[in-house]
Amino acid sequence: MASTVMSFESESPIGRVMSVDTMRVFIHIDDHELLKKVMVGNLIAIQGATGHQYLISIVERITRLPSDAIGLNEAPDDDTSPKPDEMQDTIRAVLVGTYRIKDGGSGPTFKRGANSCPQIDQACHLIHGVNLTAFMGVLSQDVPADKALRLGHFAIDPTAEAVADGDRFFQRHAAILGSTGSGKSYTVAALLERANTLNHPNIVLLDMHGEYASLAKDRTHGYAEYLKIAGPGDLVEPKPTSLFLPHWLLNREEMLSILLDRSDDNAPNQAMRFTNVVFDQKRKSLEGLNLTEVLSSFTVDSPIPYDLNAVRDSLINDDQEMVIGSSNREKQGPWHGKLTRFISRLEAKISDRRYGFLFQTPLDTSSYEWLQSLAEMFLSTKSASRSGIKVVDFSEVPSDVLPTVVSVLARVLYDVQFWMKADARTPVCLVCDEAHLYLPVRSDADAATKRALDTFERIAKEGRKYGFALLVVSQRPSDVSKTILSQCNNFIALRLTNEQDQSAVKSVMPDSMAGIADVLPLLDIGEAIVLGDSILLPSRIKLDKPKATPLSLTKNFWREWGEKSSNTHAIKVAVESLRRQSKCVDK
Ligand SMILES: Nc1ncnc2c1ncn2[C@@H]1O[C@H](COP(=O)(O)OP(=O)(O)OP(=O)(O)O)[C@@H](O)[C@H]1O
Ligand SMILES: [Mg+2]
Repeated sequence: MASTVMSFESESPIGRVMSVDTMRVFIHIDDHELLKKVMVGNLIAIQGATGHQYLISIVERITRLPSDAIGLNEAPDDDTSPKPDEMQDTIRAVLVGTYRIKDGGSGPTFKRGANSCPQIDQACHLIHGVNLTAFMGVLSQDVPADKALRLGHFAIDPTAEAVADGDRFFQRHAAILGSTGSGKSYTVAALLERANTLNHPNIVLLDMHGEYASLAKDRTHGYAEYLKIAGPGDLVEPKPTSLFLPHWLLNREEMLSILLDRSDDNAPNQAMRFTNVVFDQKRKSLEGLNLTEVLSSFTVDSPIPYDLNAVRDSLINDDQEMVIGSSNREKQGPWHGKLTRFISRLEAKISDRRYGFLFQTPLDTSSYEWLQSLAEMFLSTKSASRSGIKVVDFSEVPSDVLPTVVSVLARVLYDVQFWMKADARTPVCLVCDEAHLYLPVRSDADAATKRALDTFERIAKEGRKYGFALLVVSQRPSDVSKTILSQCNNFIALRLTNEQDQSAVKSVMPDSMAGIADVLPLLDIGEAIVLGDSILLPSRIKLDKPKATPLSLTKNFWREWGEKSSNTHAIKVAVESLRRQSKCVDK
C-alpha cells in the first residue's frame, strides 16, 4: 500500500537554513507563532537540492535571543524589550535522513543518512498534522512484514506504530539500559512475546532474580520453557525444572577459579597437579567407553564426564605419598604436603549444598550423552513439545560463583553453536538480564569474573558470524564491560537518572545522537529512546507492555501501608526458607 506523500505547498516554511555543519543545521525562524508549537524531538523537513527530496532532522534546541546582543544583559523594561520581529529565534537540529517523494517507481521513501548537505537559505518545514502521519506511515512501511518487530508507539505521534527491523535488531547485539524500575524487564518480556509469535524462535534468557517465572508455559499467558539452576532444596529430589551444570562442563580455568586460592604459595603446583589428574580421569572415562577417536584428540578442557571423587582420592594420595629415595630410605613424594589446602577447598566445595548444582548432580548428568540433551534443550527452536524461549533462573546461585556459572552455560552453548555445520545453525539470542552482576568493567573484575568476561567478550566480538547474539540488559550501564556494550548496535535506552550511566550510554551512541540522549532522565516509565540500525529514525518510543508480565511489580508503598498488614506466617516461612536456602517451602 503506497503511503500518502508529505506536502508543504499549502503552508509557509517555519524558517530557513542559517548555518550547517556536518550533522547539524541551524535554522533561522520566520514564523514565530508556529515556533511555539515546536518541541525538542519534533521533526523538521528541509527542502533538498531537488523538489522531490527533503532532509529530515530532529530538533535538539530551540532558542530565542534578542537580535540586539547589547540588550541581552540589560534588564529590559516594557518599552525596550524586543518585539517579536526583533527577536532572533533559532532551532538547532540534527540531520537523520532523507525523504524522497518518489524513489524510482515506488512511492515515498525514507533513508538514513543525508547524502547531500542542506543549502543555506533553503526552506524548512515543521512536520506535523497530516504530514507527520504521512511520514510515520513511510517509516513503518519500510520494514517488510516478515521482519517487523513491533516495539510500541512513537511519542511524537501516538497513532503511529514504532516498528524495528527484527533481523537487524538481533544480528549484531543489542542492549536495553535504564535505571531500576524504568521498564527493562517488561521490555524484555514484550520482546520475547513478539518472538514467540514466530514459528521457530530461539532465545535463552538468563534470569538473575527469578522474575520471569511468570512467563513459564504453565502460567496464564505463559509460553516459555522454565528451568532453575538447582538450589540446595532441589538436590535430594530434583524437580523436572531443576537444571544441573555438572563440574565436568567447566574447563580448567573455570574449575580453578572456584577451587584455587591464588595467594597460596603452592598454587602453581596445585593447579598443575589438578590439571594432570583431571586429564587422566577424562582419559579413563573415554577408555571405559571405548571412544578411541575422542581419545586421540581430547584436551583437558574437553567436556568429558569424569569422577571428581576419584580426582580427590588421587590428590590425597599424592599429598601423602612417600617414595623410596636413592639410599633406599623413605622420603616425601614430589607433591607431599603441597596439595593439602587445595584438597580441603575441593572437599568444602563438593559438600557445600549451595554448589550442589555443580558437585552433587544426579547420576544421569555423568553420562556421556547428557551434554547432547542439554545442548538440544537450549539450542532447539520451537516444536510441538518445546518452546523456543527458555528462561534460566539463577536466583539461588551464590553470588561468588554467579559469573562462572553464567559463563559456563553461555560458553557451552556458544561452543556447540560454533562447532555446528554452518548451514544447520539456527540463530540464538542470549538475553543477559542484570548484566552488571556478571559482566562488569574489566578493572573491577576478580579472576573468576575475568573468565566470564573473556567468554562474553568473545561472543560479542565473534557471535555475529555464528548466529549467536547477545541482548544485554542493565540498570548500571557504567558498570557493564565497555567491550561488550560497544559491540552492541541497537539500544533501547529507558529512563536513566544517574549522570555516570547517562554518559556511559552516550559514549556508545553516535556523536550526533548525544543531543537526543539528553532527554534520558526525563523519560516516563516504559518510554525509551531507541536507536541503532534496526530503526530508521532514532526516536522516543512508548514501549508496549507484555501480556505475561515479569514478577517485578513496583510496590505502592504509601497505598500498601494504608491498606495491607504484614503476614506473620509468611515471615516464618521466609526464615525457614533462609535456613534451607530454598524458596520452595511456602506451605
Ligand atoms: N511499557 C510500560 N508501560 C507502563 N508501565 C510499565 C512499562 N514497563 C514497565 N512498567 C512498570 O514499571 C515497573 C517496573 O518495570 P520493570 O520491572 O520492567 O523495571 P526494570 O527496569 O526491569 O527494573 P530493575 O532494573 O529493578 O529490574 C513495573 O511494575 C511496571 O508496572
Ligand atoms: Mg528488571
